[in-house]
Amino acid sequence: MRLRDLGKSPTIARCWEFQVWYVYWLEQHGESMAEERRVSIHGQWSSRWIFILAATGSAVGLGNIWKFPYITGENGGGAFVLVYLACIAVIGIPIMMAEVMIGRRGRQSPINTMRTLAKEEGRHPLWQYLGWSGVLAGFLILSYYSVIAGWALAYVFRAASGIFHGASADDVGGIFTELVSSPERLLAWHTLFMVMTMIVVSRGVRGGLEQAVRYLMPLLFILLVVLVGYAMSTGAFLEGVKFLFAPDFSKINAAGILIAMGHAFFTLSLGMGAIMVYGSYIPENVSIAQTSVIIALADTAVALMAGMVIFPIVFANGLQPGSGPGLIFQTLPLAFGQMPAGSFFGVLFFVLLVFAAWSSAISLIEPAVAWLVENHGFTRVAASVWCGLATWLMGLGTIFSFNIWSEIKLFGLTFFDLLDFLTANIMLPAGGLFIAIFAAWIMSKKSSQDELAMTVPITYSLWRFLVRFVTPVAVIVVFLNAVGVIGSD
Ligand code: PFF
Repeated sequence: MRLRDLGKSPTIARCWEFQVWYVYWLEQHGESMAEERRVSIHGQWSSRWIFILAATGSAVGLGNIWKFPYITGENGGGAFVLVYLACIAVIGIPIMMAEVMIGRRGRQSPINTMRTLAKEEGRHPLWQYLGWSGVLAGFLILSYYSVIAGWALAYVFRAASGIFHGASADDVGGIFTELVSSPERLLAWHTLFMVMTMIVVSRGVRGGLEQAVRYLMPLLFILLVVLVGYAMSTGAFLEGVKFLFAPDFSKINAAGILIAMGHAFFTLSLGMGAIMVYGSYIPENVSIAQTSVIIALADTAVALMAGMVIFPIVFANGLQPGSGPGLIFQTLPLAFGQMPAGSFFGVLFFVLLVFAAWSSAISLIEPAVAWLVENHGFTRVAASVWCGLATWLMGLGTIFSFNIWSEIKLFGLTFFDLLDFLTANIMLPAGGLFIAIFAAWIMSKKSSQDELAMTVPITYSLWRFLVRFVTPVAVIVVFLNAVGVIGSD
């Protein structure tokens, strides 16, 4: 969106009103204050709720509904889920607070925020490369994220056609295989999803989609509740729930523990600057701790509900929980094929999944777009087009890895598996590690205390302890595993 068009969106207009008022206030309160408090050139969220909505939109996505069930299935269930939940609480929430805090203090794209804050704290400018690695991670993740979101788009139409009605597990498996073995089809859906993403990004993250997400996210939540209700009727509900929640530690190995940690970063959109850039648009008076907890809880609830829907269907139909990335596409259609008004619920579900993926996708590319606008004078439209084109091209690798390149493997992994592994298990935890180090060791205590503005001193101390010691140690374990130093057993 061009600067002069900003006022056309009511939300942006409110943001601008706020900002005009804010600048006026700063002028009234003297220059020194104006220097201290930065204002983002990209505008600001109009309220705390809009930020929560946008950040939850970023966090809740394919990671919760597509990835969480299939990696839980591959890693034996309950014990994996328990480790994942512990990681959300001990690593995820403190790092989310650190990212939002850094973003709000810097008020620019992650690259420029890191540069500015490092300078302000009298530290080395090399810290800006943390922003760079985030931009790269976002680009790599979006390249395959868009392909999977394309599957969801394709399934909207599959569900609408009534093809799932009365279908057997074999039929549904066949429909999935047919889709992923066709590069042309995958390319068409990937292209469509990338175009959708770029349209929203070019209009500014606070236009359009924000309004849609406001209604659709709660709807997704309600639909998941309905589907849990269906799962209860499958006869295998208890078996599914037991798989998800009863920990059997003999089923999880070192690699599984570390995948659970990597997923905590992925699902909360941490370690690459997405939440940082969203944090750069929040007003001063928002409680970072409280909002981070709300976002993490909402995200976790969606993932657990998805698990409670998928696994009963898996067991009721004699399917394998560890069947990989196609899991939800091979299980949910069975439910839609059997339940009353299944086509309606099927279409609704996949539409909502597309929206959830959409609101995550825009946050994956926002750090790069914001940087091009800030540093190279690109319009948002031009920045979005260039970023979108590069991501689209990269996505071809993922598309082919499901068909014509399925036999080409490096370290036993296809292109898609490798990309997923590299980003979720290496880049995001490494990014998170450095964010924790920056927030707790590089930034002065005064700066973080000032920015977090926590009213209860003990919560600040707890946060600082977690980010200073617990998080870095835990993340180093993730990282060592990812590069194969401690290896998996
Ligand atoms: N959190 C998103 C999901 O669970 O689908 C994926 C994601 C978005 C990861 C943004 C990282 C990110 F920066």
